[in-house]
Amino acid sequence: MDKILIIGACGQLGTELTLKLRDLKGQENVIASDLLDDPVDLLKDGPYEKLNILNKESFQIILEEHGINQVYHLAAILSAKGEQNPHFAWQLNMESLLTVLEAGKDKLNKIYWPSSIAVFGTDTPKINTPQNTIMSPSTVYGISKLAGERWCEYYHQKYGVDVRSLRYPGLIGYKALPGGGTTDYAVEIFHKAIAGEDYECFLSEDSMLPMMYMDDAVKATIDLMEAKQENVKVRSSYNIAAMSFSPVELAREIQKHYPAFNISYKSDFRQEIADSWPRSIDDSAARGDWGWQHSFDTKELVEVMIRNLKDTFVFD
Ligand code: NAD
Ligand code: SER
Repeated sequence: MDKILIIGACGQLGTELTLKLRDLKGQENVIASDLLDDPVDLLKDGPYEKLNILNKESFQIILEEHGINQVYHLAAILSAKGEQNPHFAWQLNMESLLTVLEAGKDKLNKIYWPSSIAVFGTDTPKINTPQNTIMSPSTVYGISKLAGERWCEYYHQKYGVDVRSLRYPGLIGYKALPGGGTTDYAVEIFHKAIAGEDYECFLSEDSMLPMMYMDDAVKATIDLMEAKQENVKVRSSYNIAAMSFSPVELAREIQKHYPAFNISYKSDFRQEIADSWPRSIDDSAARGDWGWQHSFDTKELVEVMIRNLKDTFVFD
C-alpha cells in the first residue's frame, strides 16, 4: 500500500495535490507536512506533521513513524522570492532535494519533485521550447531547478531511485494563494476582478507565458506517478503545457465576465525574469511517453476561476 508524505503541503500546489491524493489513496495514507504548527483549513481532516525539511533527523523520524514509502517534495522558494535571498533559496531548494533523494536509496519506492519553466533562460528558443535545448537560467530558483533535474537523473542512473518530475508552467488555482513566483499575477488578477477592484499588473501587457489550471497540474502529477516505469523515459524533468497568454489577453477574457474591470501595468524586477522564460512549451515527450493531455484552455480557466472564487475568499 502507498503511504505518502507531502512536504510543503500547505502551499499553492500542495493544498490541492494533497486533497486529490487523499481522495484517491485514503485520508489516512497521505500525510501532509509543512513549516506551520497546524495545517491550512482545507487539510485539517487528515494526518499532518510539522516539518522543516532542512532538519534531516525530523524527516527520518516521520518516515519511520508513518512507514512512508513515497514522498512528494514540493517545498521550495520560488522565482521572485528567491531573488530576495539567493543563498537561502539555493540552500533550501538543493539541500532538501538531496535529503529526499538519499532516502530514495533505501526507504522510498517513488519520489516526486517538481521542476519549472524557470530552468530555461534568455538563450533558450522561446516558442515551443523543446524538451532538450539550451538552458541558461538567470534566477537562483531556475539554477536550483536545473541543478535539481541533474541530481534526479543522477540518482536514477547511479542508484536506481525512482524519482519523477515535471517542469510546471505558471499554476493557477482558487483554493490556495501563490507563494512568491513571477506568474502570481495570473491568480491575483482574479481576486481583484471579483472584488470589483482595479489591478496593477507587475508584468507588461504583452508578457506571454505558459500557464496551467491547477486541476491539470494535479492530474499530470498523479498520471506521471502512476505511469509504468518503462514509460517514464525522461528522468530529468518533463516539459508539460496547457495554454499561454499575456496579461492583456487574460484581462480581456476576464472582462467578458466583468466588463468594468480595469487593468494597468507597472513592471517591476519580475519583468526581467518573465522576459527570460519561454512563451510556449513543446510537451510532446510527455504526451507520447505517458499520455499527458490537458483539459483547460484560457476561456475555461477564466470561467472556472470566477465561478469558484465568487464562493470563497478575496485577495487583500
Ligand atoms: P508555495 O510557495 O505556495 O508552497 C511551498 C510550501 O513549502 C509552503 O507551504 C511553505 O511553507 C513550504 N516550505 C517552505 N520551506 C519549507 C521547509 N523548510 N520545510 C518544509 N516546508 C517548507 O509553492 P507552490 O507554488 O505550491 O510550489 C510547489 C512546488 O512546485 C515548488 O517546488 C515549486 O518550485 C514548484 N512549481 C510551482 C509553480 C507554480 O506556479 N506554483 C510552477 C513551477 C514549479
Ligand atoms: N510559477 C513559478 C514562478 O513564477 C514558475 O516556477 O516562480
